[in-house]
Amino acid sequence: MAHEAIIEAQGLTKRFTVKKKTVEAVTDLTFQAARGELVAFLGPNGAGKSTSLRMLTTLIPPTSGTARVVGRDILRDPAGVRARIGYVGQLNSGSFSQRVRDEMLSQGAFYGMSRGDSARRADELIESLDLSSFATRTVQQLSGGQKRRLDIALGLMHAPPLVFLDEPSTGLDPQSRANLWQHILDLRTQHGTTVFLTTHYLEEADRYAERVMVMDRGRVIADDTATRLKAELAGDVVTLTLATAEEAARAAAVVGGLTDREVRAEGSTVSVTAPDGDALLPAAVRALDAAGITVRAATGVPPTLDDVFLALTGRTLRDAEQQSEAEKESEADSPQSAASDTEDAHTAATRENEGANR
Ligand SMILES: Nc1ncnc2c1ncn2[C@@H]1O[C@H](COP(=O)(O)OP(=O)(O)OP(=O)(O)O)[C@@H](O)[C@H]1O
Ligand SMILES: [Mg+2]
Repeated sequence: MAHEAIIEAQGLTKRFTVKKKTVEAVTDLTFQAARGELVAFLGPNGAGKSTSLRMLTTLIPPTSGTARVVGRDILRDPAGVRARIGYVGQLNSGSFSQRVRDEMLSQGAFYGMSRGDSARRADELIESLDLSSFATRTVQQLSGGQKRRLDIALGLMHAPPLVFLDEPSTGLDPQSRANLWQHILDLRTQHGTTVFLTTHYLEEADRYAERVMVMDRGRVIADDTATRLKAELAGDVVTLTLATAEEAARAAAVVGGLTDREVRAEGSTVSVTAPDGDALLPAAVRALDAAGITVRAATGVPPTLDDVFLALTGRTLRDAEQQSEAEKESEADSPQSAASDTEDAHTAATRENEGANR
């Protein structure tokens, strides 16, 4: 329902012009997010994820379009938006010589909280984000995972109903990533916080987010639950191994009678990608048995979000990342692109703020 939407974005578009070359980082971003949702923005490097977040958090103004975030307009009331959200940027900073708890108190002061409220909130977050064993250490003494948890604590000091996390888990080891995710999930169950985050880890989006928005080249190309995206856009790959190529050809004809999907025979194997692979697999084995064809081996491999990305774009997420890296390198080599960033003055000012705000 529209009135319950905590984010309503309408046609958000951002163009950057660098040395007369224009990049449309985000094109016509339109969506709503409901209170309490956990939304993951998934896409390769350069897809426009951070730019989208930076517009929604008022750090940069859109070239066109607008959004209401926690009931406030990002253009008319950016301060109102900022007071109601938490934001943890992609690159963390932190005053390295400050102790963890003091850093949190400074952040509370930044949000205009009283010292007493800040102290209470800091202790609550230290507890819930498992920071107690190093609360008196300085920031520079923390590991990457501990630092990232501190970043998140800082973004949550003023108990915002909505928090934006830009790649919260990038660069962490699997154990720290799993821990961090547990904390992110707890935020919702314990505080009802709406979480909007970006990631390029497919498994994370798949496993934890209830809603996945796939972004590529500045556009949202799919938006649904991971389960539905996989069922509708990809499908299980069912592979059957037969004794000979002739049997495989016969088997392909039998299996073809059970599904409207294309059945491929290659050597002595037969394979088909179908949304109902779990049901198709036993049905195929039974039908082949009845036709006197013995199945030597059978596997059903469920799809991943990478299969979804492949179905949507014709390339895998990894290929897209490599492509984006290659484009960046070729740009860096060209004398045209001595990366001068022509953001306007407002953006430069908010960039400063971003450092303070994290
Ligand atoms: N300040 C800027 N000036 C010029 N171009 C920019 C600026 N910020 C981003 N871009 C360009 O906009 C596009 C989208 O970048 P963005 O940072 O939003 O991608 P992303 O999806 O967050 O990628 P990553 O996964 O690498 O963090 C890229 O082509 C990037 O080079
Ligand atoms: Mg980014």
